Amino acid sequence: MIGIFDSGIGGLTVVRAVRALFPAADIIYFGDTARTPYGTKSPETVRRFAVENTELLLERGARLVIIACNTASSVAAETLAERFPVPVLDVISPAVEMAAALPKLRAIGVIGTRGTIGSGVYEEKLKAASPKTRVYSQPCPLLVPLVEEGWLNQPETRRIVKKYLQPLKMKGIDALILGCTHYPVLKDLIADKAGKRVRVIDSSVAAARNLAAQAAERPEIGPLLEGKGSLEILVSDVTGQFARLAQMILKERVELTHVQV
Ligand code: DGL
Repeated sequence: MIGIFDSGIGGLTVVRAVRALFPAADIIYFGDTARTPYGTKSPETVRRFAVENTELLLERGARLVIIACNTASSVAAETLAERFPVPVLDVISPAVEMAAALPKLRAIGVIGTRGTIGSGVYEEKLKAASPKTRVYSQPCPLLVPLVEEGWLNQPETRRIVKKYLQPLKMKGIDALILGCTHYPVLKDLIADKAGKRVRVIDSSVAAARNLAAQAAERPEIGPLLEGKGSLEILVSDVTGQFARLAQMILKERVELTHVQV
């Protein structure tokens, strides 16, 4: 079974991308809705939550864990990989690889939570993977609450997205990384405001492709992709809003199981 976690609803975009590639994979998802958002919290706190979330998924049978959260990936990927005896995949390295493979990449923008952008991990990895590319980062702290509220196409949301992207557009970016797994829900709007010439990299799609790449290299992963296609969704707080958005993202009815962390 594959374990996937995020602070809330955003990681379901990774579940969607993984299921598109591996429909038979059995997945257990944990959305830490009682403690969301992670993007405004300190690295120490997010690291502690990430360790607890991984323990929970392993106790329930996960044999591989995807950190479907850029914020947790930016501060906890190494800790989790060192501490747990299963493969732990993050969402940042795959997005960076996907970006670095783009032809004619001169200037790239990265949007994410304050935690992700403040960690500097995207800049560091992009500089290493594509040294000539200029990197511009922009924290977008209002986007996670807007997505969690389901404000996906309100005029206020459109204005806020436009305002966040303005400084990046001024720098003439030719690609943009959605460095938060909540943002694919706003992908069309973000792509529209970024402009036609800007290629948009979705870290949830990158994470799913990375799973395929890892499976080709690590024989223990293959059998995890060939199950019954089951999906169990755990949350630390049950809300109607989560259920509604989960159904919108996954396009199927979902049942939520409440767990304590
Ligand atoms: N979806 C998460 C991310 O990719 C976290 C959002 C949050 O909890 O602030 O960063």
